[in-house]
Amino acid sequence: MSDRKLKVLAISGSVRSDSVNTALLETLKNVSSDNFIVEIYEHLAELPIFNQDLEGENIPDFVAELGRSVSEADAVLISTPEYNGAIPGGLKNLLDWGSRPWGKGAFSGKPVAVIGASPSEYGASRAVAMTYTILEAMSATVINRKLTVGNAPDRVAVGGEIIDEMVAKSLSDVLEGLEIAVENLTPVSQ
Ligand SMILES: Cc1cc2nc3c(=O)[nH]c(=O)nc-3n(C[C@H](O)[C@H](O)[C@H](O)COP(=O)(O)O)c2cc1C
Repeated sequence: MSDRKLKVLAISGSVRSDSVNTALLETLKNVSSDNFIVEIYEHLAELPIFNQDLEGENIPDFVAELGRSVSEADAVLISTPEYNGAIPGGLKNLLDWGSRPWGKGAFSGKPVAVIGASPSEYGASRAVAMTYTILEAMSATVINRKLTVGNAPDRVAVGGEIIDEMVAKSLSDVLEGLEIAVENLTPVSQ
């Protein structure tokens, strides 16, 4: 790996203040080495509902900012809650915006990892699987290292303190997977 730091945009599918998914992403700062710069995306709630009439010249500011943030990141890490056995609407909305224009969206080719957390023992596994499928349809480079954290309120802490070593280790593995995916995309001469 080169000495260049890896920029990771971390997107939580929840806007709830005590979100276990956001807490999982906050834990990244305590598990990642100096090789990583992790930025948590904070504007999920500001994105308007996807509307093709708002594409092109009419693109809303927060949508343009999302595109820039994803483009400038080397990799994206999404942590999704599960709502009614599926991906939350707000996150799907973000992904729909990020998929446009078709074939050239900011996520196209981008190394992405998907993780999820839930109070249930299954740890948002259905939402994680769906998010993975959606990202593949968007031509993202989705890595195979998934993480689902069940019984999440007992295993993650708002603010990101490590309270479960297994979770910390799994997060490190996911970051390592993103690092490898970025390396594989980067021409050897760089
Ligand atoms: C509308 C709604 C539907 C939910 N459906 C599920 C579900 O299908 N599976 C599950 O594990 N938890 C479900 N939950 C519980 C969420 O996992 C729980 O609220 C979790 O804390 C949400 O993630 P967050 O803490 O990151 O906001 C649901 C919660 C809501 C509000």
